[in-house]
Amino acid sequence: MTIRAVVRGVGHYLPERVVENAEFEATLDTSDAWIRSRSGIERRHLAAEGETTSQLAIKAAEAALADAGLTPEDIDAVIVGTSTPDFTFPSVATMVQAGLNMRNGFAFDVQAVCAGFVFALANANGMILSGQAKRVMVIGAETFSRIMDWTDRGTCVLFGDGAGALILEAQDGTGSTEDRGILATDLNSDGRYRELLYVDGGVSTNGQSGHLRMQGNQVFKHAVQKLAETAHHALEKVGLSGGDVDWIVPHQANLRIISATAERMQVPMERVVVTVQDHGNTSAASIPLALSVGKQRGQIKPGDLLVTEAIGGGLAWGAVVLRW
Ligand code: UT7
Repeated sequence: MTIRAVVRGVGHYLPERVVENAEFEATLDTSDAWIRSRSGIERRHLAAEGETTSQLAIKAAEAALADAGLTPEDIDAVIVGTSTPDFTFPSVATMVQAGLNMRNGFAFDVQAVCAGFVFALANANGMILSGQAKRVMVIGAETFSRIMDWTDRGTCVLFGDGAGALILEAQDGTGSTEDRGILATDLNSDGRYRELLYVDGGVSTNGQSGHLRMQGNQVFKHAVQKLAETAHHALEKVGLSGGDVDWIVPHQANLRIISATAERMQVPMERVVVTVQDHGNTSAASIPLALSVGKQRGQIKPGDLLVTEAIGGGLAWGAVVLRW
């Protein structure tokens, strides 16, 4: 008998305010046509003044609990992937615990920037397999609008705010790749690439939250190569390949990266969940948002084989193979 971390529920929340590309034309030397053609982004949701990452995360968590038919008492652990917490501490995860009125279990944040959800999912899987927790809520939640330099056209048009949540539950499996649940994970990072994507502020440097800085075209090159590689490694660990995949659910940073990765994996775009046009890059929130929207659209169905893959600041990147 093998223990598997199986998806029991999924949900998401997007802030009400939608900003179309054309809105940037008033303040920046940019155009809807440039943003669409270079990134695939058409619009993004931005948090209202005073709306925080934990508030988005709590709403996504409530949606996932409703989808799973569970209550907060049923959850043993909350892991939040985020790089834009409400406060330096406490963690967003403990704020979610409080927001849900959860009195049990434990909660903590994982910070791996855009790869944060993949890293959080791998952590949750490890905790379930080791018997530390039976049901884990894994959330990706971000308010990247708070770290944008709104005068930098190379970054501020690309990002958005939002949150997505997944509930994983320990279930018995057979050990074969026909089992539902997480089948393989692959995590990587390389700190030598810090300068390609970072925030120019922090607690122990200048005491400020800072702004996101990115050498977009350099990150692009790493992304195309490393995402296909990590997805391939994760699949290979359990004897699977691109041909077995029903859905790639990629980090939603750029449509050109998404399609180049799919091509390298020999998976047609009809089998890729794409939400980047409506959400922009929501960092750690993008994969759980895409999982939730993909389910709502009727794309992702029970039994489907999924690969999620993401890369972000660090650089940090990774992939998770799971059967829905
Ligand atoms: O989620 C974390 C990981 N992040 C990513 O995966 C992002 C990866 N990078 C990208 O998505 C792309 O590199 C971008 C969308 C950021 C940029 O696309 P690109 O094809 O790599 O363009 P580029 O950076 O090479 O810039 C091309 C030109 C430049 O002008 P010059 O130097 O050729 O005259 C930029 O100044 O486009 C210019 N540019 C813009 N023009 C209009 C940059 N931003 C804009 C803009 N509007 N918003």
